[in-house]
Amino acid sequence: MGFDFDKVINRREELVDSLKWDCKENELPMWVADMDFETVPQVQETIRKRAAHGTYGYAIEPDGWADSYVKWWRDHHNFNMNPRDLIFATGAIPAISSMVRSLTNVAENVLIMTPVYNIFYYSILNNGRKVLESKMEYVDGEYQVDFLDLEKKMSNPQTSLMILCNPHNPIGHIWDEDTLTKIAELAYDNDVVVISDELHCELVDPGKEYVPFARVSDKARSNSITCMAPSKTFNLAGIQSAAVYVENRKLHQRVWRGLNTDEVAEGNAFAYEVAMAAFEYGWDWLTEVRDYIYKNKQIVTDYLSKYLPQLHLISEDATYLLWVDISRVSDSARDLARFIRKGTGLWVSAGEVYGGNGEHFLRINIATTSENVMDGMDRLKRGIEMYEAQK
Ligand SMILES: Cc1ncc(COP(=O)(O)O)c(C=O)c1O
Repeated sequence: MGFDFDKVINRREELVDSLKWDCKENELPMWVADMDFETVPQVQETIRKRAAHGTYGYAIEPDGWADSYVKWWRDHHNFNMNPRDLIFATGAIPAISSMVRSLTNVAENVLIMTPVYNIFYYSILNNGRKVLESKMEYVDGEYQVDFLDLEKKMSNPQTSLMILCNPHNPIGHIWDEDTLTKIAELAYDNDVVVISDELHCELVDPGKEYVPFARVSDKARSNSITCMAPSKTFNLAGIQSAAVYVENRKLHQRVWRGLNTDEVAEGNAFAYEVAMAAFEYGWDWLTEVRDYIYKNKQIVTDYLSKYLPQLHLISEDATYLLWVDISRVSDSARDLARFIRKGTGLWVSAGEVYGGNGEHFLRINIATTSENVMDGMDRLKRGIEMYEAQK
């Protein structure tokens, strides 16, 4: 079946209340991580059917909800889970914030490899814990884990938790088995629990595969929590439906207790059925959306090499978020992003919020029509030219 990802959908409509499109008429938002595509038709049908019922009282977890995750990960990622080890959560971030509270004490360190998804900082800081950054090494335009630094920070007795982003937002990297095995080993040996946030795991280039952290070794499996969801994959973030997978019984109990105490373990009237429909019917749609996003990536790659060679696109295999090195144009991504938005209406994310060496980067969301991507590139070119002219 051919899905029409070129279709122009008006997300500015009041009915939609879109966070991404809450901007001026002449602006083009390519920032927050959601897509401008309609989701899987059977998911839309599930929502329509449920909405038509007219009653929206409390929901319970239906039979088959956990099995739908188990089947998807077994079939597509060679990862075997026991359904009893999955817990519903209203989102990855509500779950992560809850786990920061239930698995660490106030003033302890939570380790992250930076630059990384900015909301991790809030989950840590808002709960009175300390952010411990292990900055990734950036050599010849590529990132690597700084294992010496990671080990030093894990061995600090104040460090009790690490939040790993797998694949990694914003750099778009798929961590390989060796890297994950080493991280798992270090964490286990230093009594640091690992939360692996795998929300972007399906959004990989055609032919590429991510590696589930808990799959790489017994140490990883017994000492980790995996966050999973259909939200990024199928453009369902607003439905607030996610899951955490915890195999270790003691850890499972602590996480379950925390999620319940924090009241983030119960889904709304749409949350369970929507996830089940996405995992049951979403494969063909996903295959095509990957091809489409990859095509958009090629458009950007070609455009930058032809018209903006002073920018360096980090060439990576996952996510629809492109991480662009702007250090030859500006030493402040924040300045540059503001300037571009004001001058051209293109709204992209400034890298400072992700920590690490983020001040040298812009993050650009290309999960939109190719027409918008071209428009975004033309605006970027104009913005950079104007910025360079006034320097
Ligand atoms: C790595 C990562 N984790 C979590 C989230 C948000 O998850 P949720 O909406 O389920 O809280 C995002 C959204 O961009 C993300 O990029």
